[in-house]
Amino acid sequence: MTINFAHRGSLTEAPENTIPAFQKAIDHGAKAIELDVQLTKDNKLIICHDHKISRFNKDVSGLIKDFTLEEIKQIDVGSSFSDAFTGTTLATLDEVLELCPKDLLLNIEIKNIPVIYDDIEYLLLQCLSDHQRMEHVIISSFDHVALQKVQEITPSMPLGMLFYYRILNAWDYAKNSGLNITSIHPNNVYTNRDFVKNCKASGYQVYPYTVNTLERYEELVDYGVDGVFSNVPEIFTSV
Ligand code: G3P
Ligand code: CA
Repeated sequence: MTINFAHRGSLTEAPENTIPAFQKAIDHGAKAIELDVQLTKDNKLIICHDHKISRFNKDVSGLIKDFTLEEIKQIDVGSSFSDAFTGTTLATLDEVLELCPKDLLLNIEIKNIPVIYDDIEYLLLQCLSDHQRMEHVIISSFDHVALQKVQEITPSMPLGMLFYYRILNAWDYAKNSGLNITSIHPNNVYTNRDFVKNCKASGYQVYPYTVNTLERYEELVDYGVDGVFSNVPEIFTSV
């Protein structure tokens, strides 16, 4: 059985990483959702993949970190997707946690490159604790120092180690990191049978991203992955 993540919600059906996208994923019966977290200028946890806002509203230049939450909530990020979503704004983590059932697995990715948010780990864990949402969560990042900080604050938190590029023996790197990594999240383009076998032999779950064809999904399942991140409802609802 696999656990597949609706990547940034159901991003083909609603603006990525927004409440409508997460609602669509839930409506499809997704068991797991992936989302990206950053900080506003006033240190509020906000859900967005890019540091720049311009992909979601071409009239707005600047970075997430340059705007307060109040300012960000004035920005329409929906109409660039379709007129039907005009007025949709970026979501706070609070809003996402209020929406999602407690047993829905959340993979919260800390977006810490190239902007580095110094206290995001503490604020994220505090928010999860406030919502009694320390279970059914994996925190991941390409920034492995962020994972280290999460572990220092909450040693029991499951950690997902993201890799964009191929690195030599990623499973050994994870072991030698001193972190309690529970899963390895590789780019799917280089995930092959040996990679999965070595990760599994080292005790890691393997969740490649982003897998958008059924053919590739089935190939990866045959290699033994534990699930994938996908934009495609047919894949993220597969079990
Ligand atoms: O967490 C998996 C995947 O989302 C990582 O890449 O760029 O889509 O955040 P990206
Ligand atoms: Ca992500």
